[in-house]
Amino acid sequence: MAGPYPELFHGAWFLALLQGLLAALWSQVLRQPYWWLPIHALFLPTAIALLSLQLPSWLYLLAVMLLGLVFWGTVKGDVPLFLSSSAVADAVALIVEREKAATFADLGAGVGSVAVPLGGQNPLLLVDAWEQAPLPWLITRWRCTKLLNVRVKRASLWSCNLGRYDVVFAFLSPLVMKQLGEKIIHEMRSGSLFISSSFPVPDWEPESIVEINDRRKTRLFCYRLQ
Ligand SMILES: C[S@@+](CC[C@H](N)C(=O)[O-])C[C@H]1O[C@@H](n2cnc3c(N)ncnc32)[C@H](O)[C@@H]1O
Repeated sequence: MAGPYPELFHGAWFLALLQGLLAALWSQVLRQPYWWLPIHALFLPTAIALLSLQLPSWLYLLAVMLLGLVFWGTVKGDVPLFLSSSAVADAVALIVEREKAATFADLGAGVGSVAVPLGGQNPLLLVDAWEQAPLPWLITRWRCTKLLNVRVKRASLWSCNLGRYDVVFAFLSPLVMKQLGEKIIHEMRSGSLFISSSFPVPDWEPESIVEINDRRKTRLFCYRLQ
């Protein structure tokens, strides 16, 4: 919809596309990660396209609020939500069985992609799912209403004590692995197992690496505590 001033509308499109192109090029010059490229290129053209739809303004507020409830701490640097595949959940379940674990923690449980099936398959396993973002936490809680062995905690993973767990699982980000490694060394018991999905702990030697045949070709780095 071009409105009463079509030449202004077309001018705005031209400027938005030009801005997107220049911003994308500049992000390459600054060597930003490649995934910034489409964000820079499409941001302003998308804003103009949405404006032209003349949607009610409360829809934007609703979208921002929903995104805020899902990506709660991401603005201040926390790891965002992305989900493990069911193949990862199956592989973790096999490891937990092999370990004869009685206690398990998922640090940053998301919507429970790992904690929920694991708790469902092993009623004798005590599963603690730590999740800080309100909406994923609520979804995991709802998914666990009938699982008495799963406790879904709305708290920061940095505030939990890892000393009580036989196996700890995390799927976070390379940015936090050094800090997480320090927490694990201080708190986890000797003989217990830490599994990190996708991101190794810098300078640590894994006991084993499990390669999963899912879309991301996920690797599980398994570390035995000394
Ligand atoms: C990559 S997702 C992994 C979700 C889930 N573990 C899975 O494998 O599907 C990371 C999750 O960690 C949560 N998270 C990030 N920082 C956290 C923190 N400090 N405390 C608790 N949860 C956190 C995010 O909200 C997000 O749901």
